[in-house]
Order: sequence, then C-alpha cells, then structure tokens
Amino acid sequence: MDQYAVFGQPIGHSKSPMIHALFAEQTEQSLEYGKQEVSAEAFDAAVEQFFSTGGKGLNCTVPLKELAWERADKRSERAELSKAVNTLMLLGDGSLYGDNTDGAGLVRDLVVNNDITLKGRKILLLGAGGASRGILGPLLDQSPDSILVANRTVEKAERLATDFQQKGKVGSCGFDELAGKRFDLILNATAASLTGDLPPLPDNLLEPNGSCYDLAYGAEKTAFVRWGEAQGAVKSLDGIGMLAEQAAEAFELWRGVKPETGAAIEQLELLRG
Ligand code: ATR
Repeated sequence: MDQYAVFGQPIGHSKSPMIHALFAEQTEQSLEYGKQEVSAEAFDAAVEQFFSTGGKGLNCTVPLKELAWERADKRSERAELSKAVNTLMLLGDGSLYGDNTDGAGLVRDLVVNNDITLKGRKILLLGAGGASRGILGPLLDQSPDSILVANRTVEKAERLATDFQQKGKVGSCGFDELAGKRFDLILNATAASLTGDLPPLPDNLLEPNGSCYDLAYGAEKTAFVRWGEAQGAVKSLDGIGMLAEQAAEAFELWRGVKPETGAAIEQLELLRG
C-alpha cells in the first residue's frame, strides 16, 4: 500500500493521520498515513529511509519545514516564495517535489468555510516568522487592499514586506505603531499563542465588521481568539479549519482527488472536547 506520513518534533499530538485516514476513506483511496518523530538533525536520513521503502509523500511540520524546502529537488512557486515546504511528493524519476499548502489552506478556510472576504480588505498580520512567510503569497493573491505585517522585531517584518512587495501592497511596523489604525481582518501568526501569550495590541484595531483568525489552535480557545471576541470581532476563529484544508491540498497533490473537509473539521471539533 502507498505510504504517507507526517514528520515533526514533537509529533505525538498530530491530527494529520486521523485527517488523512478520513480523506482516504471518503475518496476510496488505498493508502496508509503514519506519524514519525524526527528531529532536525535526523531529517535527511529519515527522508531517505522513508522514500526508499515505499514512501510516496510526506508532510513536514515544526521544526522541519525549512529543511524540507532545502531537500526538495523541485518546488512549486508558492513554496519557493515561502522558503518553507510542508508537503513532499516522490516523482516518477525519483526526485522530490516540494509544495507549501499552508497559505492555500488558510485562504480556503477564511473564504470558503467562513465566508470572510479578502478582496479589497485591510489585513493586519501579526508575526514575521516562518508561519507568516508561508501565508503571505496566497493572501496577496486574493487582492486585499493591503497587508500590514507587525512584529516584535521590526526588521523581520520589514524584510518580509520587501520580499513580497512585487505581489501586492505590503507594509511593516512594530506593535507600538498600531494604535489608531483599523483593519477588516487580523491574523495571528506569532508563536505567542503557543505559550498562551498575546502580542501587545491596542484596543479598537477592528473595523465594525472585522474578524480575527489565529493560525494556532488548542483544546481551549487561544488567548488571541479570546482577545478577538472581547474586541467585538464578528468571527474570532482558530486554525482548526486551516489544518484540515492544508491537509486536503496535500492529499489532492498526492492522489489527484480533492477530499471534502467538512467531516474532518467536525471530528477535530469533537476531539477538542
Ligand atoms: P514560526 O515558524 O512559527 O513563524 P518563528 O519563525 O520562530 O516561528 O517566528 C515566531 C514569530 O512569533 C516571530 O514573529 C516572533 O517575533 P520575533 O520575530 O520578534 O521573535 C513571534 N513571537 C514569538 N513569541 C512572541 C511573543 N511572546 N510576543 C510577540 N511575538 C512573539
């Protein structure tokens, strides 16, 4: 049977095997999808081992996305720009193709699942690390009015804005420059969520019909999702839907058939308890 897996560290709580098992059942594809704890040091050897023993495709998560980008022999345009790869696929000639489905997954969850318009909207993106780099291209492809990247380390936000300026209107600033500005959508891509922290945000950043979205998710509402609710966001969502959608994009790349994400998102919500 064709083998797929997710590599990362830690990997214990990964929901990807459950999601892909659901997709395989739904699309009647015969495949196995496992998970493997792989450190950055062990990455190259683990990839060789996997693809030389029946592996067809891999997902790579923290801290391996940049290494997967380096390892890929060919890359999609969106992966090239994001400098990160979350999906590897074995090609017929034995080479590895790298893609990044995170941004497309986020856009689909916003636009299709949650009816949040991006075209013409003012977007604030919090954070300027790998997660932000991975989603900026696909967000700009939706023709927003503008995206402002705010980061604790302002130079990193500036670098990101420069790298993507050919794709649309991208600005940069520090958190202390946000007061008085207004946005239709605020996306949190900082690692602060993972430790229950929040970037220092002023009140009244949201337009009256504005929404918030945290790329992170957890059993409980994240600090940013709660902040959004307190600020009166029409929707304040976490990244569960993005998780399912980026998986669906990877599945389609590997198998040529796009699964429906509704059941997977329902399962993920149930598991949240
Ligand atoms: P990732 O790949 O998840 O984006 P990263 O590249 O380490 O991880 O980037 C983490 C992001 O979260 C950065 O934008 C970081 O800000 P700095 O560039 O100033 O380090 C941001 N971040 C992490 N902890 C934060 C906190 N407590 N408050 C605000 N921003 C934080």
